[in-house]
Amino acid sequence: MMSYYEAHRTEFLEGLKAFLAIPSVSTLPEHKPDIRRAAEFVAEELRNAGLAGVELIEGPGNPLVYGEWTGAPGKPTLLLYGHYDVQPPDPLEEWKSPPFEPQIRGEDIFARGASDDKGQTYILIKAVEGFLKTRGNLPVNVKFLIEGEEEVGGGHIERYVAGRPPRLQADAAVICDTEMFAPGLPTICVGLRGIVYAELEVQGAAHDLHSGVYGGAAPNPLQAVAEILCALKDRDGRIQIPGFYDRVQPPSPKEREAWARLPFDEEAYRAREVGAPELVGEPGVPLFERLWARPTLEVHGIRGGFTGEGAKTVIPARAVAKISMRLVPDQRPEEAFEQFRAAVERARPRGVTVQVRRIHGAAPSVVNPDSPFIRAAAQALTEVFGRETVYVRSGGSIPIVGLFDAHLGIPSVMMGFGLPDDNLHAPNEKFHLPNFYRGIEAVARYFEILGQ
Ligand code: BES
Ligand code: ZN
Repeated sequence: MMSYYEAHRTEFLEGLKAFLAIPSVSTLPEHKPDIRRAAEFVAEELRNAGLAGVELIEGPGNPLVYGEWTGAPGKPTLLLYGHYDVQPPDPLEEWKSPPFEPQIRGEDIFARGASDDKGQTYILIKAVEGFLKTRGNLPVNVKFLIEGEEEVGGGHIERYVAGRPPRLQADAAVICDTEMFAPGLPTICVGLRGIVYAELEVQGAAHDLHSGVYGGAAPNPLQAVAEILCALKDRDGRIQIPGFYDRVQPPSPKEREAWARLPFDEEAYRAREVGAPELVGEPGVPLFERLWARPTLEVHGIRGGFTGEGAKTVIPARAVAKISMRLVPDQRPEEAFEQFRAAVERARPRGVTVQVRRIHGAAPSVVNPDSPFIRAAAQALTEVFGRETVYVRSGGSIPIVGLFDAHLGIPSVMMGFGLPDDNLHAPNEKFHLPNFYRGIEAVARYFEILGQ
């Protein structure tokens, strides 16, 4: 089977390229046909791999793709999750090769979705294919559930999983959608932040106004957005929303110690990975705690007014701001959104109205590193990568993790093969090809260990 992986490297790479060439951007309506093509691509891959019951699960939202192999009675059942949707590729001019024309440079493949999450979803498919094509069976039972709206909050899969369909019964979920802590260092992610994504629409005057003629009397919605933002988070990065921190649980002393021992150079991270003159955030709180165990509030974009070349003297009538908050255990997305809404209303300057809309949300999650499913994964990773596996959390969100726990009662094993410099959600996203091939081996080894 390992020799099947060796012998089919070229085919795997060609398949991955075809997958990456589909611009399945979930947030942009004009890509609906590409979303469907990507779903059908995954379904076809699952059929070719030898899975049974392959189908697109339709519903409001983007299709889910399902397929299973359940020929190992008495052995564990794994729910294999991934997502075929991707983030928008903009700003396009910063890509060295077009985002949907995968290009290999050195040992990396560059394309939107290369690492997040098409390349990693493909790892799961190819690992299963290797067993079914060579031995005709697997050491464990597997059920694939691949979604197409992870990057926009995963509404469809949430409703589907909440219905607890019997065919999703499993002992654990396996998710390859996270990062390795450092190149060559096998990593299991045991915690994710949650998220609440909101949009503010601020309205001032009924229409745009001459800033000389009306300045001094007319309210300015862009200024209002700035004032609201400054009221929500202070200059030290502390969120000023009343009650927001009430449920925040500090990491355990054991976790804190483990994080402090991770091989890490904060100055190199600042200079090479972040590329900013200085790192920011709550004073006195260690970096990993700020990234993994403290909530945040970020503005993603502000729309309104004049941003063209030259100068236009206008007081805009309205402005829109996109804002998200990352949440940590035990914060609750609905409660955090209500606290946010109330704080925005309190911070609203005179002369404008503000509409606050919730776009999506997901609960934070932690998984117990002592679970036998996690331990077996660490063993598989350690064997394949030849180094001791580290446990980390991540600041990102994968909404399904909390939902698998809440509705199916199963832990998620997050064995990710991305690298910190993979440029997720940014221009020049890439996936390190050696991680692609080793990822397949590691997942295969994981199945074998669990099947013993
Ligand atoms: N794969 C990422 C999450 C991630 C990135 C986890 C790096 C660990 C390390 C995922 O696809 C993602 O970006 N999720 C969104 C979810 C949101 C839009 C609901 C996120 O975190 O912004
Ligand atoms: Zn992802």
